[in-house]
Amino acid sequence: MIRRALVLLPGGELEVRDVEVQQGKITQVSPEISSPVAQEIDAAGLTLLPGVIDPQVHFREPGLEHKEDLFTASCACAKGGVTSFLEMPNTRPLTTSQAALNDKLHRAAEKCLVNHGFFIGATVDNLPDLRQANPTPGIKIFMGSMQGALLVDQEAALEAIFAEGSRLIAVHAEDQARIAERRQQFLGNKNPVVHSQIQDNQAALSATQLALRLSRKYQRRLHILHLSTAEEAELLRQEKPAWVTAEVTPQHLLLNTKAYETLGTLAQMNPPLRSPYDNEVLWQALLDGVIDFIATDHAPHTLAEKAQEYPQSPSGMPGVETSLPLMLTQAMQGRCTIAQVTKWMSTAVARAYGILNKGVIAPGYDADLVLVDLDTYRPVLRQELLTKCGWSPFEGWTLTGWPVLTIVGSQVVYERGKLYTDVRGRALRFEADAVGTPT
Ligand code: DOR
Repeated sequence: MIRRALVLLPGGELEVRDVEVQQGKITQVSPEISSPVAQEIDAAGLTLLPGVIDPQVHFREPGLEHKEDLFTASCACAKGGVTSFLEMPNTRPLTTSQAALNDKLHRAAEKCLVNHGFFIGATVDNLPDLRQANPTPGIKIFMGSMQGALLVDQEAALEAIFAEGSRLIAVHAEDQARIAERRQQFLGNKNPVVHSQIQDNQAALSATQLALRLSRKYQRRLHILHLSTAEEAELLRQEKPAWVTAEVTPQHLLLNTKAYETLGTLAQMNPPLRSPYDNEVLWQALLDGVIDFIATDHAPHTLAEKAQEYPQSPSGMPGVETSLPLMLTQAMQGRCTIAQVTKWMSTAVARAYGILNKGVIAPGYDADLVLVDLDTYRPVLRQELLTKCGWSPFEGWTLTGWPVLTIVGSQVVYERGKLYTDVRGRALRFEADAVGTPT
């Protein structure tokens, strides 16, 4: 039982409530619940939100565990208030078959503290796997910024995937041909700032245009991952079919190319950071509902890997421990509301992926919850991070809304710095026909 929390109710109001949870579910939400219970949490002064569902993470297991693994990543999730995640297929081996998907599900059941789902990765020749894989939130296509079998950059191969089946396709939209051409122009330039010029706005826009064209041709459920440019946001504002959704990362909202000056290659990611103008247009698109939700694209690399000279340095930055406080700090500064943060980080994600019974605090919903402190400001400190990579692009930022307590399936998994590492999340299920833009 959680007593006297300021609870975000389904209509968006914040009211003081008692919340009863039992056997994985929320059973009562009421101004005062009198029934006696075994465990009571006094949440006076704290705010209770649905747990975050992070719909794009790279957790590196199997095969790249020196960067992160499912245990360390899920500890970082628990600390960050992330109670469910959807993970990407660029592990080793690649998640491009049912066998590889089963292996990940098995590993996650053994060691993940939070709920989990795994994308199936498209190659040029695994259409049967893409059609049959289960359970999965959908098909991930790297249209660019990828090497090896997961790169699908030819229109004919893309069209074959869009034409076959009906499940959700999530695209990393960057134009590989344009990137390859521009890389030649910047050859020998070791300043990471050129990363944003090589993989420029046009590279992202062209690929997003192609994905939209194919989605429209086949009426195919499309999700555009980590939208990064003003041009893409304006395009979606003009013409976004009802079966298309889009996400943005906190990095693309809050960081821009100025970050290379202080962070160097730590600011390198794909798609790259853009200009302050892009930040503004993306924010407005999010506020207006053109962009549907938020993902971190948590993509850890070790500091030693990141210390290599550009372009040997790998792209990607971690995010699951900081995303909720980053966004709640924006809310407290008046940029958006707490209800919008929850919509973008829980409710809309659950709807878009057909994850039933999550993302809302109401009886019958799953008891995946996070209790945050919106009164205290604390800095992001490297020594407190749980991600195995051990750094954050937001180190030194002073944030509020830090999780005090995280609950997964009615079990406390994190409380004031302490992890309960015996807790295990569950494999997420995805309702196939839950398509369309969340409201
Ligand atoms: O920056 C990125 N890093 N973007 C991606 O799409 C992949 C990711 C990774 O896996 O490192």
